[in-house]
Amino acid sequence: MARAPHSSRRSRPPCPPSALTGPLEWRYATKRFDPDRKIDPAIRSALERALVLSPSPSGLQPWRFVVIGDAGVRERLRAVSWNQPQITEASHLVVFAARTGLTPADVERHVQHTAAVRSVPVESLAGLRTMIGGFVEQLRAAGRLDAWCDRQAYLALGTFLTSATLLGIDACPMEGIDPAAYDEILSLPAQGYHTLCVAAAGHRSPDDACAGLAKVRFPVEEVITRV
Ligand SMILES: Cc1cc2nc3c(=O)[nH]c(=O)nc-3n(C[C@H](O)[C@H](O)[C@H](O)COP(=O)(O)O)c2cc1C
Repeated sequence: MARAPHSSRRSRPPCPPSALTGPLEWRYATKRFDPDRKIDPAIRSALERALVLSPSPSGLQPWRFVVIGDAGVRERLRAVSWNQPQITEASHLVVFAARTGLTPADVERHVQHTAAVRSVPVESLAGLRTMIGGFVEQLRAAGRLDAWCDRQAYLALGTFLTSATLLGIDACPMEGIDPAAYDEILSLPAQGYHTLCVAAAGHRSPDDACAGLAKVRFPVEEVITRV
């Protein structure tokens, strides 16, 4: 069986605790990006890999990430995003879309792909197929399948935001958009997906007044309950 290229033990964590909270305090929902500062190509591809590596239940990956480079498309999207400047000013713009009406064929594709990647006979994954197929059918019968797929894509948004922060990249998650208009502009329904939200990423403009605002968060004792 093919093995993952990493060992199960590390002598040191890749990011010590002290190196985590500093960047998380530094990040903020960036309103104004410097349109002249582009993300370095190596960072760009690391961010795209972070999207691919985001976890999902049973690894089904019921999502699509649309990276919008075309300036004309950006202008059209900005017009259906409350004219928010991040849409055209950020170096990188990702639309997070989720699968609509996940099908047994999606489950089968995942099972076949797992067998190929791990070099195991597909017959050995019969139990996995039954298990995933079972809970997908339960979600469908309960009318919760699309909402479930949406949640998985939001996890990828979180992965993207934290990854960007650790790479020194500013970002803004955005739901202030018209998802139906995005769907139409990007032809997503024809591909079996629907728009949820976007993430703009790049480098903050020195003129962004929001960069200096204090973080507004409830105290840890109110947010985290210890039992
Ligand atoms: C799912 C989601 C959608 C958001 N939509 C927008 C948006 O459309 N425009 C915007 O400027 N900020 C948006 N934000 C940013 C939040 O307003 C911001 O994260 C929050 O006020 C906390 O501030 P901070 O992230 O700067 O600490 C969104 C955040 C999330 C998580």
